[in-house]
Amino acid sequence: MIVAGVMSGTSADGINVALVRVPARGRGRPRHTLLAHEEYPFPAPVRRAILAMMNAELARVADLARLNFLLGELYAEAVAKTARKYRVKIDLVGCHGQTLYHQGTAELFLRRKLAVTWQTGEGAVIAARLGVTVVTDFRPADIAAGGKGAPLVPFLDYLLYRDPPHDGRAGRAGPQRIAQNRIAQNLGGIANLTAIPAFASLRQVIAFDTGPGNMVIDAVMDELFGKRFDRDGKVAASGHVLDSVLSQLLRAPFFRQKPPRTAGREEFGREYVNRFLQFCHGASKPDILATATALTTQSIANAIQRFVLPRFRSRQRGNHQMIASGGGTKNLTLMAMLREKLAPLGVELHVSDEYGIPAEAKEAVAFALLAYETWHRRPSNVPSATGATRPAILGKISYA
Ligand SMILES: Nc1ncnc2c1ncn2[C@@H]1O[C@H](COP(=O)(O)OP(=O)(O)O)[C@@H](O)[C@H]1O
Ligand SMILES: [Mg+2]
Repeated sequence: MIVAGVMSGTSADGINVALVRVPARGRGRPRHTLLAHEEYPFPAPVRRAILAMMNAELARVADLARLNFLLGELYAEAVAKTARKYRVKIDLVGCHGQTLYHQGTAELFLRRKLAVTWQTGEGAVIAARLGVTVVTDFRPADIAAGGKGAPLVPFLDYLLYRDPPHDGRAGRAGPQRIAQNRIAQNLGGIANLTAIPAFASLRQVIAFDTGPGNMVIDAVMDELFGKRFDRDGKVAASGHVLDSVLSQLLRAPFFRQKPPRTAGREEFGREYVNRFLQFCHGASKPDILATATALTTQSIANAIQRFVLPRFRSRQRGNHQMIASGGGTKNLTLMAMLREKLAPLGVELHVSDEYGIPAEAKEAVAFALLAYETWHRRPSNVPSATGATRPAILGKISYA
């Protein structure tokens, strides 16, 4: 069976499509093969509209309805284009959709405590255009089961990175090799990690959002240079970190919060960046960029020290590996800072490409596999990661 996974993340930079082959039958967890991956940037007006719709003051309900159908069309076109290019016939689509609002922790609303989430991109449109079954809206079922609705990628992280591998790939952790504690770190708009101790069962996996990934860097670039992002980290590379600003930022309650925890534009969006820029008042542009970049890397290192290393049995140096993915891996300054901050913790930095998954494709692959599980009526949330009280079958199905 060939499943297309479609991801468009909080960066609102574009659509990632992964075509994944999953054996139709077979016992246990399926072994999958990534056949192709393509990325389609959103046209600038679409990106502006998406960002506006995430802003309560600017969003109008008619436009929200329109955006839902427009994104359905764009997702379908992206999948169709990829399938044509690689001459592949698709059997199923898993589409994450565009998050407009995510509040994983219950808050009072009309006298009820509710956790809520909202992804847009109409599945019925995708199904109609492509003529195949489509799974969308993965997060609500986990929230309904008492979870935070995020993160959902740990399902794939566990399949990919648990060491020793227990899906039949024999013998890689022989006596001559010590099993690794692994941290899958995604560097999207938000940065989130999945920690998989050596020999872990699925229940021992922890996962949470560490804080901003590229979101603050992108917004600062937009504000100071009118650019979408700091290409290759060049601007940050020419600046110096403003240490006092950085330590002030890291004192925010979010960074102290115990996992599971989630973040989004609600925490690190426009308002946050305005405050950040006020703190940096008078500093040079490169220094501001360097500081935004260090905020990402230092918050990751702190989270690992506080919440992850205590869960790893082996404290031996060199037994901890981080495997990074997401667009942030292309930011060389971010990666250099991260490597430097992880070294004293005994964590070695790698990129997911080394493990056969291009860094920018991983989340799209995850939603292909989540759709596959849903198609088979199997649960795929990881309760230890989301805080759900039980496993849940994720998503809603649109039939062609
Ligand atoms: N060449 C590059 N140099 C620096 N940053 C990059 C580069 N390519 C992509 N990025 C960063 O990656 C982000 C997109 O990452 P992605 O994993 O798609 O995030 P999301 O899941 O939030 O959409 C961009 O907004 C940008 O910040
Ligand atoms: Mg993206």
